[in-house]
Amino acid sequence: MATRQWSPGDLLELSGYFWKTGALHAAVKLDLFTVIGNGYLTSNEISRRLKATQRGVERLLNALVAMELLVKTDGKYANPSSCQTFLSKDSSKYIGHIIMHHHHLVESWSQLDQAVLSGGPVRTRSSTSKEEWRESFLMGMFNLAMGLAPQLVPLIDLSSRKHLLDLGGGPGTYAIHFCQNNPRLRATVYDLPTTRPFAEKTIKQFNLVDRIKFVDGNYITDPIEGQYDVAWLSHILHGEQPQDCRLIIQKAVDALRPQGIIIIHEFILKNSMDGPIFPALFSLNMLLGTEAGQAYSEQQLTDMLAAAGIKNIRRIPAQTPNESGLLLGEN
Ligand SMILES: C[S@@+](CC[C@H](N)C(=O)[O-])C[C@H]1O[C@@H](n2cnc3c(N)ncnc32)[C@H](O)[C@@H]1O
Repeated sequence: MATRQWSPGDLLELSGYFWKTGALHAAVKLDLFTVIGNGYLTSNEISRRLKATQRGVERLLNALVAMELLVKTDGKYANPSSCQTFLSKDSSKYIGHIIMHHHHLVESWSQLDQAVLSGGPVRTRSSTSKEEWRESFLMGMFNLAMGLAPQLVPLIDLSSRKHLLDLGGGPGTYAIHFCQNNPRLRATVYDLPTTRPFAEKTIKQFNLVDRIKFVDGNYITDPIEGQYDVAWLSHILHGEQPQDCRLIIQKAVDALRPQGIIIIHEFILKNSMDGPIFPALFSLNMLLGTEAGQAYSEQQLTDMLAAAGIKNIRRIPAQTPNESGLLLGEN
């Protein structure tokens, strides 16, 4: 592949991209898209509803128009239909939780140089951070999984399976989609006790209380009780060091019945560790937020599964917007 040649303009565009990020984050944090809703409002009216200054609001509104996140006609502002769908809290497709989670990461990313020097984190782990941040982390996971699950879940045939373990399942989004797609399947979401209210609320919202239960546990320090024929490990290994990943995988495998399957859903790096771009950047995000987490390569994950006695390990082809991938194996 030809080496990319960068112009000063390209470099400055990349360097200044966070201005656009900042404008989007501020608008979501102020709940601007919900305030505008399906209305057609002047900056004066929007300032009044936001209890904010006209000076600040008008500038933000005009920048958002320039970014095509709002439209302006005759001095009035409106949401494009896509922004109303994804950025208004009144929509069931609202993805503001994950945007707020990204916003909470900004401060740590501005200290990346320090993390590189020290090799250690500069922020608290999202799963144990303060309540408001944890809510946007967990419901952000819900936002992401709601987008991906309809694409990933049909790739895995669980029609003959009875009980799925969703380890570190967060709000249970994947357990929900697997149960919806496989009417005979039950699921157990295993996660930290602080995740319980989010998972229970989500499971109830999808009317699956009779088929999905939540179990409190710490997959590093606690046992995994029960017997399953599917273990689903989605985006949990990247938070842990290799020896803890092996421990978690071994516990999941030990909880599988014979002929069980284990599926890892992760941001999987090439074996050379230098791409695809999202997993490579995500590994930096784990440097910033965990003691020893990282994105792993397909070879590293395969070796971890093999060490736990898993056979017939294979990659399930999947093309996802955030470059996540699936590895499946049998015991
Ligand atoms: C990145 S989220 C992934 C959630 C979900 N699996 C998904 O893919 O949408 C990681 C999850 O692991 C949980 N978690 C982190 N450390 C844990 C531990 N030691 N024991 C159990 N769950 C843990 C977090 O609470 C969070 O729900």
